[in-house]
Amino acid sequence: MAKGKTTIYFCQSCGYESSKWMGQCPGCREWNTFVEETVEKTTASKSKKAAEASVMKLSAIELTEEERLSTSMKELDRVLGGGIVKGSLVLVGGDPGIGKSTLLLQVCQNLSRQQIKVLYISGEESLQQIKLRAKRIGEFTDALSLLCETNLDTIQEVIKKERPDVVIIDSIQTMYNEAVSSAPGSVSQVRESTGILMQIAKGMGISIFIVGHVTKEGVVAGPRVLEHMVDTVLYFEGDRHAAYRILRGVKNRFGSTNEIGVFEMRNEGLREVENPSEFMLSGKPEGASGSVVACSMEGTRPILLEIQALVCHSNFGMPRRTAAGTDFNRVNLLMAVLEKRLGMALSSCDAYVNIAGGIKMNEPAIDLGIVLAIVSSYKELSIDEKTICFGEVGLSGEVRAVSMAEQRIQEAKKLGFTVCILPKVCLEAIQEIKGIRLIGVSNVKEAVQAIRNL
Ligand code: TYD
Ligand code: MG
Repeated sequence: MAKGKTTIYFCQSCGYESSKWMGQCPGCREWNTFVEETVEKTTASKSKKAAEASVMKLSAIELTEEERLSTSMKELDRVLGGGIVKGSLVLVGGDPGIGKSTLLLQVCQNLSRQQIKVLYISGEESLQQIKLRAKRIGEFTDALSLLCETNLDTIQEVIKKERPDVVIIDSIQTMYNEAVSSAPGSVSQVRESTGILMQIAKGMGISIFIVGHVTKEGVVAGPRVLEHMVDTVLYFEGDRHAAYRILRGVKNRFGSTNEIGVFEMRNEGLREVENPSEFMLSGKPEGASGSVVACSMEGTRPILLEIQALVCHSNFGMPRRTAAGTDFNRVNLLMAVLEKRLGMALSSCDAYVNIAGGIKMNEPAIDLGIVLAIVSSYKELSIDEKTICFGEVGLSGEVRAVSMAEQRIQEAKKLGFTVCILPKVCLEAIQEIKGIRLIGVSNVKEAVQAIRNL
């Protein structure tokens, strides 16, 4: 093997490589992100590599049922696509203090109770700190071992010796590999470390969870390549001031994405929220104008949420508009539709739209909810509490079809709603459901008429 050291400049924000320093990254347009890092180039002899490689016919590949370990947390299992796949590499990203370490320690607890060997490697906290956290969470069995280490070579040796089934790396940004001379957390370190962990996972069939820090912009710090390398990317998010946390799957090679798991942060660790709709709707005001319940699909699960709007006369020439929990531009667009199609004088009004509970939802199916909340506040018209609505609103004010209408209606019925306003097109495709009145509407005008008639 021929070896040689070269210096390469890496963009710390996107991982762009350059042989020269640059002020602005051509990849992500960030300024002053290039840092010099030395990398070792190894070139194996070509003929040897080619001799080792062999091709396979698709028909000759045998399928084995992928083995999954249950984490005993239904919310997490669903986001993972049905449990932890053997030999998979899972990246868990999230803001500091959101509860990543807590979640993974609870995974350790549940797995160790099933006598699955788990190794928790922390580069951030001392053993005492982990013990303190563990004391809050509860009882652990001896199937869990802990290690405070940041050197990946040592970690590799320990894993080879201990042969655990599941390994947790608390945080990839603290790990380093001696062969790479740049500092821990830099692009080449993070990339190299993930590469090594990948080999361990695939080579030994060990499932590895990696914790990744998130930058101010909300992406996993270090290169984007990290997300491409791993099998599954989960984001743990939530308002730090609110008690609940949402675990969102953004990439999953072994299951569907967009699934969410809802947890609540308690004194004794995270607790699963099995019925998030109920949780989101708790505290909904009764008989108030500007409040309506809408339904959004998160992966395969319908979630009911309360949309609130406050429309009031503006004292300035430039009306104020805010949208919390949903897309600001979408709200502006829907207000323009209302102005044009229903003749409402919204251009002289301030408008504040909020999804109660601090949850973020961007599915177009909540359009109708936003529209009705705004109309309700503008006209001081309170909407019947047992009514839910969903539907996408187009630019000409038409209410368009959305997917999985039946699941949404069933969820609403389960929570005791008696009226559902939905796109007319959806209504034709579903059979009558007992116990809930379905009102099909084809445009916003009909929708407003429907809430007046309730
Ligand atoms: P932590 O898991 O350390 O966050 P991360 O690893 O993502 O940085 O979570 C720490 C926060 O959670 C901290 O603010 C305290 C809180 N917490 C509880 O409220 N209850 C608990 O039982 C635990 C362990 C933590
Ligand atoms: Mg932590």
